[in-house]
Amino acid sequence: MKIFLDTANIASIKTFADMGVLDGVTTNPTLVAKENQDFHELVSAILKIVPGPVNLEVVSQDTEGMLREGRDLALLGPNVVVKCPMTEPGLVAVRKLGKEGLKTNVTLVFSPNQALLAAKAGATYVSPFIGRLDDAGHEGMEVVEDTLQIYRNYEIETQVLVASIRHPVHVVQAAKLGAHVATMPPDVLDKMVRHPLTDTGLKRFLDDWAKAGLKLPERRTLVAKARPYG
Ligand code: E4P
Repeated sequence: MKIFLDTANIASIKTFADMGVLDGVTTNPTLVAKENQDFHELVSAILKIVPGPVNLEVVSQDTEGMLREGRDLALLGPNVVVKCPMTEPGLVAVRKLGKEGLKTNVTLVFSPNQALLAAKAGATYVSPFIGRLDDAGHEGMEVVEDTLQIYRNYEIETQVLVASIRHPVHVVQAAKLGAHVATMPPDVLDKMVRHPLTDTGLKRFLDDWAKAGLKLPERRTLVAKARPYG
């Protein structure tokens, strides 16, 4: 499963890109607004760090506006994915942008039927919002499960990008279901890195090492003793 970071925060993106765990980035108008920065500068910085898909959302509500914005956003980099909302004008825009060879993501998807229609319109990705469904008293992950089954039944190539992830268990569930991508906020990815037993285990190793007064050999000693192979 691919891991995308759901943020427009440069520092967070750099942190996880440096670890080599990041396959892409998703943004939305709320996340971009949070950074309080010039949009072009912000996105250019993100595109410099991330070679994988960078999802940028249109803000127009009519098809013409979405097409104009989508084409402009795509000019920012070959890895830009244009996010359009799951609305009638959004689906028309997705169909047209796809025909022009642009990658698209249908966002704000809350049912398998919406996901089916997004795929028929030719979306590259479809984004079911799991956490928001959970918040509303539904089992969000069921939409992922149903969508994946429908896509498999008909060999649909649209990728399921699990969005609105709230905790690491969502990530495990998405991966077990075989979702193509999970996008998550930095705090969730951070929690995936950490485990209390890793911390206590590491502390014990280092304490024992220090107590024994051991030292790793110096490099020049190792080089002097090294024998060529063969
Ligand atoms: C996905 O592309 C969205 O940006 C995101 O996952 C929304 O998540 P939220 O429900 O936590 O705002």
